[in-house]
Amino acid sequence: MSAQRPDLAPTIELINFPASTQSPASHQSPASHIDWSAFTSIALPIHATDGTVEIPASAFLSTALAEINRTASQLLAIHLSATGKAGEIFDVQIDHPTIKHIYLVGVGDEKRDDLKKAGVALARKVKGSDERVISAVNRDRATAVVHINAIVLASFVWNLKTAKESPRSSFTLIGDFLEELERSTTIAYATWSARELIHTPSNIKNPAWLADQAKAFVAKSGVRGLDVKVWAGKELKRFGGLLAVGNSVPKPGPRMIEITYAPIGSKNWPHVVLVGKGITFDTGGISLKRPYDFMVPMKTDMTGAAVVLAATMGAAQLSPKVRVTALMMCAENAVSSTSQRPSDVLVQYDGTSVEVTNTDAEGRLVLADGLGYANLELNPDYLIDVATLTGAATLALGRTHSAMYSRDSKLAESLIAAGENICERTWRMPLVDEYAPAIHSDIADLNHITDSENFSGGSITAALFLEKFVGDRAWAHLDIAGPARSESDAGENPKGGTAYGVRLLIEWLTSF
Ligand code: BES
Ligand code: MN
Ligand code: ZN
Repeated sequence: MSAQRPDLAPTIELINFPASTQSPASHQSPASHIDWSAFTSIALPIHATDGTVEIPASAFLSTALAEINRTASQLLAIHLSATGKAGEIFDVQIDHPTIKHIYLVGVGDEKRDDLKKAGVALARKVKGSDERVISAVNRDRATAVVHINAIVLASFVWNLKTAKESPRSSFTLIGDFLEELERSTTIAYATWSARELIHTPSNIKNPAWLADQAKAFVAKSGVRGLDVKVWAGKELKRFGGLLAVGNSVPKPGPRMIEITYAPIGSKNWPHVVLVGKGITFDTGGISLKRPYDFMVPMKTDMTGAAVVLAATMGAAQLSPKVRVTALMMCAENAVSSTSQRPSDVLVQYDGTSVEVTNTDAEGRLVLADGLGYANLELNPDYLIDVATLTGAATLALGRTHSAMYSRDSKLAESLIAAGENICERTWRMPLVDEYAPAIHSDIADLNHITDSENFSGGSITAALFLEKFVGDRAWAHLDIAGPARSESDAGENPKGGTAYGVRLLIEWLTSF
């Protein structure tokens, strides 16, 4: 199953050069000769050995130097400040019928994070142009996945400008890592698709629109064993949290979008249920978000839902031996005459009554229904929720790591390891039992936030609330409020929604 490329995403191809006879990937074009007229630039790695910056020798380097009629030291002499550290990039302009630039790209110690930085640097250099780059920057199979992900994701563009001027760059990499190419483009294109949903303004993406998008994705994918069911109206009768939040906009009202990946023969595979927070806009509800500036980015509050959708779709294309159910808990948290009030009591899917004291803590209410439904009806072996849940998580960890909560050390460690592998990281946080009184209510089974004592630890107390709905499942909660957004267009992220979690979850789902 080949990866579905979003329209504006760059193409990535491989050239196995020099043609290697042992290569098992026979459908890959083996090249003993390169058609230089197909390219506008050449990217070469640079690194330092014993303090001397050099371009590592290779058959490709010799051929390229012959073609452009230069020596490696001539190229290096132009930028004497080069150190070879990861992410550095130098442009050497040359005279050649088609090749206009030689990019010297720092690869540092050639660790995964180094090649990630190198991919970002290269992609950003040619972003917005129609350059056709042939690159030998990545030399090692082990770093190919993060490198290619970085190239694709740093190229991300999204806008609704009427004049569509969108030149697209393309990349041809020297190497025989065909499997890694397949895997990384699948992951990167899935992340890209999630970003498109996240960047879409909230006047377009209501819960019904998201349901249509999910259906269209599944239909287009052609992956066997994928299915979608959309829950709406009376079908959501038991989903008291989703209804209380989502009925603030009765038309179209909330949706639970259930995507299943269960191919023939998967009955005895482990079953993973992913639950995503899908708040299509978070005004805070009647407990209006203040200062109002904090409201502007809240079109990204459906990131969790977009992430579980994209992760399921992406993983399914890689045919893992695991069944997946993704529950996108979609609702808008608006101010209206049908909004819930601070002091209301609602009943969640599993029958737990919850006192709502601040309507801006809406995410945990929609998640609680999804978790309760999963625990009672779906018999998951692993239950993972993903949510832009608390500002407190950002306060604790900033924008590089999500806050992860789990009682299950094996599950927690496997998520951390997947994050390390794919360079999208999570940090384990404690479920502090001493804070349990934070969610005590005098009038209901639970209060969704602390309304008496000040416990601080807002991300922790939110996790303690969610834990009440997971029974004794192996459960992990990812509070992604920090890494789901980027302050600027930098690294592999655009300004705004990053779709953090797609890479981590696909890596994890395909590591069983
Ligand atoms: N969607 C927000 C959390 C958020 C804040 C995400 C900033 C990304 C950036 C969530 O619904 C919310 O409002 N949380 C409140 C909870 C509080 C009322 C207990 C928060 O974190 O302030
Ligand atoms: Mn909120
Ligand atoms: Zn929210």
